[in-house]
Amino acid sequence: DHIPVICIDGPTASGKGTVAAAVAQRLGYRFLDSGAMYRITALAALRAGLAIDEGHEARIAAMAQNLPVRFEGGKVLLGGDDVTDAIRTEEAGMNASRVSALPSVRTALVQLQHSFRRLPGLVADGRDMGTVIFPDAPLKVYLTASAACRAERRHKQLISKGFSASIEDLRADLEARDARDSTRSVAPLKPAQDALVLDNSTLTIDEAVNQVLAWWQERQ
Ligand code: C5P
Repeated sequence: DHIPVICIDGPTASGKGTVAAAVAQRLGYRFLDSGAMYRITALAALRAGLAIDEGHEARIAAMAQNLPVRFEGGKVLLGGDDVTDAIRTEEAGMNASRVSALPSVRTALVQLQHSFRRLPGLVADGRDMGTVIFPDAPLKVYLTASAACRAERRHKQLISKGFSASIEDLRADLEARDARDSTRSVAPLKPAQDALVLDNSTLTIDEAVNQVLAWWQERQ
């Protein structure tokens, strides 16, 4: 495929989403938030009364295959419902992690993810963009940061939205989510063999964005 794609993978709250969206904006590329698809699938399953477990895998995968989802002007719509905020809670993240460990759910979402690869190019944010979904991507970045740093960022984010949360609880949650994501049998979280690792612990958003853009420039 000749359509350019930049993959940005990494653990929870490493800043992937912010960096990937900014890189997409600077290049005029499309942006794929693959985590949102797992979050929406989990929400849709729970709303349909399906507990997220292996016993419901086939039915949840069937829902994922025909997810009535639209990404419009920064809003996420499921059917006619605006679920933008509902999918962003910590609980929704944990449910997404559970649903994403079901192999046939992952398979059901592949085509939808591939459909985002259109001209002029794509920046894809997730856990397995470089390892599984776009293995031929010319640039794969693995964006990471220390757990302390990630917990602190998530804490600031929540406070700014008016939620309260303890840093210790947030850190425990994100470490639990990373442990599940890294040890699952299908598409575990890990850097692609040809990924460039960027430690975002001490970088500003602009610094991280500029590093990714510089790497992209080198490949042109
Ligand atoms: O990135 P975000 O926090 O929105 O992702 C939510 C969850 O979805 C992750 O914890 C992970 O389990 C799952 N996910 C995944 N593969 C992706 C993106 C997200 O398994 N490409």
